[in-house]
Amino acid sequence: MGYRSFDTAQAYYNEEALGAGFKASGIKREELFITTKLWISHANEKDALKAFDASMKKLRLDYLDLYLIHQPYNDVYGAWRAMSKLYKEGRIKAIGVSNFLPDRLVDFCLNNEIKPAVNQIECNPLHQRADFQKLMGEYGVAVESWASFGEGKENMFENPTLMKIAKKHNKSVAQVILNWLIGRDIIVIPKTTRKERMVENFDVFDFELDSDDKAQITGLEKGESLFLDHRDPEKVKWLIELHKGKI
Ligand SMILES: NC(=O)c1ccc[n+]([C@@H]2O[C@H](COP(=O)([O-])OP(=O)(O)OC[C@H]3O[C@@H](n4cnc5c(N)ncnc54)[C@H](OP(=O)(O)O)[C@@H]3O)[C@@H](O)[C@H]2O)c1
Repeated sequence: MGYRSFDTAQAYYNEEALGAGFKASGIKREELFITTKLWISHANEKDALKAFDASMKKLRLDYLDLYLIHQPYNDVYGAWRAMSKLYKEGRIKAIGVSNFLPDRLVDFCLNNEIKPAVNQIECNPLHQRADFQKLMGEYGVAVESWASFGEGKENMFENPTLMKIAKKHNKSVAQVILNWLIGRDIIVIPKTTRKERMVENFDVFDFELDSDDKAQITGLEKGESLFLDHRDPEKVKWLIELHKGKI
């Protein structure tokens, strides 16, 4: 379909399949942009190095484009020291974080020599992260959105406002969302298992939302995550136990 950016993680259990896919595709390494992530259980200085080597072996790569700390828990400072070393050695082109909330991100930026290039966070029309994006901009951290479509929660694909805007531009709701995110300089990694939707989700560059469209989307903000609060103790515990014994 023409996609060249792939977002995977230790915790997705698909690095090996992706590695086989890259090899079978015959696409030149430098044309690909590959991201993987370090899970909580390995987020310390020693285990991060081991986890990186294991991911690289599964992905069949000799360098990585972007390595992220998947969740803001465990010894993330130790993990960052290991990742910074790999970055300085040229084995990773860029390093970043994921699911860091504003307080943790600012602390992390101010107490590390190398700042995260990216913070991959939930970002969609119902949870837009506008203030957080501004703050991240002050520290030079780019926003990458997961759940661009909210994984379809809250009937996002049938949202009347989004449907109206989509109809006006002769596009789909998914295409409006991706165009809106890209227009905000947000990196997108939409997920679909269907070939026709891969084509659709790529075809988002031939229209422009006007100020009225954008104002209507701004009005959809719900002010909270559609998934979880990364500061909720029960959710922290749940995430830490999620892959226990498996990774
Ligand atoms: N850092 C993190 O903590 C974190 C967390 C979650 C996800 N992620 C990453 O974010 C990526 C994005 O995935 P996501 O899970 O956040 O979900 P998402 O992209 O918000 O939504 C995916 C859902 O939307 C549907 N869909 C996709 N394109 C569509 C279209 N054009 N029309 C209608 N439905 C469409 C898909 O269904 P079909 O497959 O049936 O098309 C799927 O159910 C993941 O691949 C993962 O790499 C990161």
